[in-house]
Amino acid sequence: MAIRNIRELGDEILRKNCREVKEVTPRIRELIQDMYETMYEAQGVGLAAPQVGILKRIVVIDVDGEHPYTMINPRILESRDTQTGSEGCLSVPGKAGIVTRPNYVKAEAWNENMERYEVEGEGLLARAICHELDHLDGVMYVDKVEGELYDVGAAEDDEE
Ligand code: NI
Repeated sequence: MAIRNIRELGDEILRKNCREVKEVTPRIRELIQDMYETMYEAQGVGLAAPQVGILKRIVVIDVDGEHPYTMINPRILESRDTQTGSEGCLSVPGKAGIVTRPNYVKAEAWNENMERYEVEGEGLLARAICHELDHLDGVMYVDKVEGELYDVGAAEDDEE
């Protein structure tokens, strides 16, 4: 496993559409492990493959340190209600902003064994799913922020 370099806002790769994953090769398995390692090292709660320069539809999310979700080819099936709150991104270090998201989402995805599953999330998990899935279509939270970005401490642990 290895920690990968996190691309930052302004890097064109973050604005591209990611491709579907057809099969989990050993290389993709290694990518997923590296994404977890990179996310945990950076104290983030989610990371999308384009953030490490790979244009594939893969995200990893772990909002509580206990329930990691590897989401391959994820898609939101249902969303409802709204939440408005602070959001950050490992690709926009030291910054946060206010973003309104659904407060509940149900998504489908495939795991490392290409088994389909569904995940339902509220609050931070719903926010993280929406945020990370946006990355797969080249969308960043700064596109949706209400008002200005503001500075946060480098140790902020709710960055996605
Ligand atoms: Ni992000």
